[in-house]
Amino acid sequence: MVAMEPQDQDAPGFYTPVGTRRKFFQWVTEAAAGLIGLSLTIPLVGYVISPALKRRDKPWVEIGGMDELAAGEPKQLDYVATIRDGYWEAKTHKAVWAVKQSDGQVTVFSPMCTHLGCGYHWDTMDRRFKCPCHGSVYDVSGRVLAGPAPRHLDALPFKIEQGRLLVMYKEFKSGFTEQIEL
Ligand code: FES
Repeated sequence: MVAMEPQDQDAPGFYTPVGTRRKFFQWVTEAAAGLIGLSLTIPLVGYVISPALKRRDKPWVEIGGMDELAAGEPKQLDYVATIRDGYWEAKTHKAVWAVKQSDGQVTVFSPMCTHLGCGYHWDTMDRRFKCPCHGSVYDVSGRVLAGPAPRHLDALPFKIEQGRLLVMYKEFKSGFTEQIEL
């Protein structure tokens, strides 16, 4: 009887197929489990953090009826706005100035003076918008007539639907000659 020499497992070309296959299937199983976990985690993380990454919503808000505006007479329109910023939501009172010009064109102005952001009012006697803080004066079309205001009143986007006036409220940096949205 011929004695069997133990095989040298380090010899070139020698490998154990059973051990290698087991490792391969283990690796495939782990990789599949990882992929499944990842595919579940990414949408979940996106769902959780996406509201926090969203910019503040600027929805259209109804502020009044067109029949409330008399030609050439600016009117302050008050409304309650819902502001959403990520998970945070609040209701706030806002006011804008709307003017139906004598030619029927409508303009809606931000309520903030472009100098340092004070609220201004319409002087019915002088027919001017006047800011009480530092004396800026604007005409009915929002043009600066006097004072330190660096630019005209900021006009806001608006639309008219079935006789109702809707505005998209925006705020701009005060004190600059150009309009920079916040
Ligand atoms: S904030 Fe209106 S003039 Fe200064």
